[in-house]
Amino acid sequence: MLISSNEILQEARKNGFAFPHFNYWDDLSIKAELAAAEVKGLPVILAWAQKHGPQISIEEALNLGKFYGSRAKVPVVLHLDHGTDPELVKWGAFHGFSSVMIDASNEKFNDNVRITRDVVKYCHHLGVTVEAEVGHVGTASADDSTTYTEVKTAVEFVKETKVDSLAVSIGTSHGVYKKGRPKLNFERIKKLKEAINVPLVCHGGSSSGNANLNEAAKSGIAKINIYTDLANTALHVAQKMTYDTEFELLKAQRSAIQVMSEHYYDVFETAKYSY
Ligand code: 13P
Ligand code: ZN
Repeated sequence: MLISSNEILQEARKNGFAFPHFNYWDDLSIKAELAAAEVKGLPVILAWAQKHGPQISIEEALNLGKFYGSRAKVPVVLHLDHGTDPELVKWGAFHGFSSVMIDASNEKFNDNVRITRDVVKYCHHLGVTVEAEVGHVGTASADDSTTYTEVKTAVEFVKETKVDSLAVSIGTSHGVYKKGRPKLNFERIKKLKEAINVPLVCHGGSSSGNANLNEAAKSGIAKINIYTDLANTALHVAQKMTYDTEFELLKAQRSAIQVMSEHYYDVFETAKYSY
């Protein structure tokens, strides 16, 4: 069953746990992530990112999401991640994503508000929830700048845009960190949670450290996005061993992605969720 993200994220926000958001890039990854959710008996957020368009088109991702999502034994949020093109985001909402992210976080505040507000207006007519980002979560490997989200800015952004959830920058970055674990700003998370009533989202969850992510969930983050750890575990399976058949390799990769996904349910204490 496909659901929108509002209800489950609000419960996570109130009760100090988070839902995992898993990016998928093919049928193997979506099946593995869904299998993890079914083992846990918990809802899952399955996401296609616009930047993965060259690997898997939006049409293909949407069809995979609908196919597996509608057959799932758990509620599935089908999410369009990091949509930087507002028209593509609207297209996705219209054609079946139950949740979308409009990412204009690279724009100036006023432009981010204007672009987000327009997408929110369109999507709310369709019953699709909208996530947006204020502050900027950079890329670890590119030394991309990460700007911490200011409380005042977040309050104004939510008020102006009526967005349903907010991605905030609290110390994580996309991808693998060059060294060690990032330093997360838990005080900032708590202040943001107190100041705004929509769920907070943490991007760049991979390799941020289990203790960090657990504390982030307890401090007020309701959704944590994971991609790189899932892709890398599949890559390592292929690099570390040789396989006699293609099917053996695929089975091992699928199993590794599932194990990693189940692990993050535990780290985020998603089992606190009650239907
Ligand atoms: P990672 O690849 O660092 O896990 O980030 C995932 C993400 O933020 C997807 O939106
Ligand atoms: Zn992200």
